[in-house]
Amino acid sequence: MSQAVLHPGPVERRSFLNWFLGTGVGAFLASALYPVTRFLIPPRVEESTAASVALDLKAAAVRPNSGQIFKFGKQPGILVRTPAGELRAFTAICTHLQCTVQYREDLQHIWCACHNGHYDPVSGKNIGGPPPRPLEQYTANVRGDKIVVSRSASA
Ligand code: FES
Repeated sequence: MSQAVLHPGPVERRSFLNWFLGTGVGAFLASALYPVTRFLIPPRVEESTAASVALDLKAAAVRPNSGQIFKFGKQPGILVRTPAGELRAFTAICTHLQCTVQYREDLQHIWCACHNGHYDPVSGKNIGGPPPRPLEQYTANVRGDKIVVSRSASA
């Protein structure tokens, strides 16, 4: 009788082993399935609600054939002064896989480094590479010596 107290029987060891392996397998499955689930069902990303933004740069300082990234709400935008001197603004999020685009002075257009995507700097139209759609175009106006970028044409 005292021997049963000092040495647990095979049933107790087996149940402990089953519990131990079961929780280990459960933890492994949870750690493997959680990232897969988050990838398949991503969390909601809030849309940027900013309607317009005044950029912290003077219009005269933006030289032709150049571009720069700015923050439009929570998302990046790109301001372009075309080689002809027109100011244009677009979302800076590539329509392919959402990389941030940039302006290439040597190519004289907007370019995405991720997969060599190309966009027209005047219209934002996708002109080369994998991007399936044009960049969303914003309106860029000069007010005083500041540049104001807005979503609508009336800003
Ligand atoms: S993410 Fe821009 S070309 Fe693929």
